[in-house]
Amino acid sequence: MLALAATSGLNVLTSCSVQKSADELPLPGAVAKELEMPDGSTIRYRAYEHLYYVTNVEDSAYQYLNLYIPESVYESGGADVPIFFRTYVGGYRAAKAKEPSGLDASGRALQEGYVVCIPGSRGNDSAVEDDGKKVYTGRVPAGLLDLKAAIRYLRANDARLPGNAERIITDGTSAGGAMSSLLGATGNSPLYEPYLEKMGAADARDDVFAAVCYCPITDLDHADMAYEWLYQYADPTVRPLTGEQQEIAQELAQAYPEYLNSLQLKTADGTLLTADNYLDYLKTFLIRSAQKARDEGCTIPDGIGVILNVVKRGGPHGPQGAQQGQPGAQRPQGPQNFAPQEQGDFVLDIDLPAYLSYVATTRELKTPPSFDAMGVLTDAASPENQVFGDADGGSANFTAYSLRKATGNPTAEPDEVLRRRIYLMNPMNFIADQGSTKAPHWFIRHGARDRDTAFPVPLNLATKLMNNGYDVDFFLPWNRPHSGDYNLDELFAWVKRVTAAP
Ligand code: DHB
Repeated sequence: MLALAATSGLNVLTSCSVQKSADELPLPGAVAKELEMPDGSTIRYRAYEHLYYVTNVEDSAYQYLNLYIPESVYESGGADVPIFFRTYVGGYRAAKAKEPSGLDASGRALQEGYVVCIPGSRGNDSAVEDDGKKVYTGRVPAGLLDLKAAIRYLRANDARLPGNAERIITDGTSAGGAMSSLLGATGNSPLYEPYLEKMGAADARDDVFAAVCYCPITDLDHADMAYEWLYQYADPTVRPLTGEQQEIAQELAQAYPEYLNSLQLKTADGTLLTADNYLDYLKTFLIRSAQKARDEGCTIPDGIGVILNVVKRGGPHGPQGAQQGQPGAQRPQGPQNFAPQEQGDFVLDIDLPAYLSYVATTRELKTPPSFDAMGVLTDAASPENQVFGDADGGSANFTAYSLRKATGNPTAEPDEVLRRRIYLMNPMNFIADQGSTKAPHWFIRHGARDRDTAFPVPLNLATKLMNNGYDVDFFLPWNRPHSGDYNLDELFAWVKRVTAAP
């Protein structure tokens, strides 16, 4: 972190000669800018833009970061200010290093007085021309390596840049949420080292302080199974499948319990989770979500699987209970944040098949396989097939299941190099692994009607982190589809809390 005098500008830090390592790359002068916020306020900040974070730049459109420092940092001389690191990765595509926006967490972070870093990174659609040939630059794990290199750059330059690189909070949504989870789980892992070295990343640590993950599309090698295992319980009429699709769906669903059981996850009270009790566990989170919505006065429609004990208020006979759903049902143990009985309704239970069917009516479900689709029942490559592909623009299967279907070879496996790349893209592989430094703090959100990946994916991520002793704030916000950077008051109250600790 750079110690700042109240009057110091950043221009003094400008240096220009060609250097050898990323921590010695030239730093341009900072430019004064302003951002109008939706509440009418104006944030004044200084911008460092186009900071290339590796020395061997392969794709100059993406491999740099922008850094934004609110004026309040200079006014207070605050060198200890956390850095909010917002990636705009979506759909596993390349992401530009943009300017902060008043419409998402980047602008809000500036308003809160944090330094904001917006890194660019390569992805499934980034390419350069080499000798007249199109070379795809962003195949796995390139995008993640870029983000790790950006973190290393911030750390290597901590003494000459504002913000505290020991307090980096990563934030992303969907594929970006997956990237945020990977940054949080894979810190300093030696498995990425050879790639980072080759790129000319700074010789510095790349662990982060906190990871904010909105609807992370992750655990890609098990996400197809999770999807079919969960949505097999939805009413088949809301997701009409062809005979061929049904067969695929069934095979995938049947394969999931073995994986789920292998995780050896536990509930908060230490009960081992298996495919047999997992749905009850999931229900406790959906109940908590519906209960919070009720406590906040939301109407929950009948017929979507939420079983309420409606407490009628007022009237000639005073408060009285009128129960929906099974008579005599007891309120489950899980949710703690309910209002006293006379102030609201109790969510007694969730009828999971009805609820999942409701989710499927809010947005059509994906068809099986949802992620590793190429060559199974379609020739089309999913964004995930593309990102696992090669520099020539080819796409690849990343599960043995789909590879076998696609090739017709019942014993086919991804080759060793691909297996390694698949491994490097799954945060679940690193959470219990002593070889990486995990973020101590996690904020994970997945909308309670988000069908882009199945609930077990974010829930397993959160549970594995909790089981391994990390501080995890996990919630399924009610009536929320696939989206991110919402409820920013809640997010930034959390950021303030976790960064307040010495
Ligand atoms: C995203 C959404 C998806 O459904 C998916 O499969 C991959 C990425 C996204 O919004 O980033």
